Amino acid sequence: MARRILITSGKGGVGKTSVAAHLGYALSQMGNRVVAIDMDAGLNNLDVVMGVENKVVYDLSDVIEGKCRVKQSIIECSQTLAIIPSAKGFDRDFSSKNLNSLTEGLSTRFDYVLIDSPAGIDVGFRRAACSADEVILVVTPTLTSLRDADKVLTILQNYDLKKTGVVVNKVRGDLLLRGAVVDLNEIQAVLKCPVIGCIPEDDSVYLCSGLNLYKSRAQKAFKMLAKYVDKGKGKIYDATAFYRGAGGAIRRAIRGNI
Ligand SMILES: Nc1ncnc2c1ncn2[C@@H]1O[C@H](COP(=O)(O)OP(=O)(O)OP(=O)(O)O)[C@@H](O)[C@H]1O
Ligand SMILES: [Mg+2]
Repeated sequence: MARRILITSGKGGVGKTSVAAHLGYALSQMGNRVVAIDMDAGLNNLDVVMGVENKVVYDLSDVIEGKCRVKQSIIECSQTLAIIPSAKGFDRDFSSKNLNSLTEGLSTRFDYVLIDSPAGIDVGFRRAACSADEVILVVTPTLTSLRDADKVLTILQNYDLKKTGVVVNKVRGDLLLRGAVVDLNEIQAVLKCPVIGCIPEDDSVYLCSGLNLYKSRAQKAFKMLAKYVDKGKGKIYDATAFYRGAGGAIRRAIRGNI
């Protein structure tokens, strides 16, 4: 049976969709069969990040409304990676039960079902939470993101979800070295949840439309995250390394952070 993992955050724009796409890709590169489902109805863009927006014919709403079979809505990105795109409109009234049955049905065909949640704590988030067994919380190392993540964790106590861990995204190693952003140990202590991944702020994520991050620092970090998720333990990317030593001092100077 697949591991059904909700990727959520509370706060918008912290990188849920990017993590769902690139973690999915890295897990699939390890030989796992992965399907990522976009549950952000209306503001869906997982298909764009995964570079398959031109292949969308049917979406999640068509499956739930019985207009197509599940198989018809699955877009294959590679032999081991697939996506089910989300509904384009806000007006869709899916029941949590239907979404849960859908992800349960996919469990036999895939090793991982990654669920890209909408921001916030409203109905879309709650429906997504009902379709998963585990949760990965995506945060940025900022107080606003951590406060929202903490609220989400409180709400998730009402759901039967295993807390797999926190992914700290958009980490600037230069700011971390200067103590200007919240460090990973503090995040772990505040959220009482293990940090399982650190993804640096990296132009390759921002600029890429598609899954290839071309040997960037972010690609390395996503590979490490995928190993951690798959094995339940592993190393966490060190975002400060890029800013240490002689080369690092120059990079810090360029960013104005000596
Ligand atoms: N590690 C990163 N480095 C640089 N840019 C990033 C990184 N992660 C995400 N981004 C960028 O931040 C923006 C928001 O990311 P994304 O859409 O994944 O967030 P989200 O949490 O899914 O947003 P929403 O709440 O709107 O669904 C995008 O432009 C994305 O390319
Ligand atoms: Mg998103």
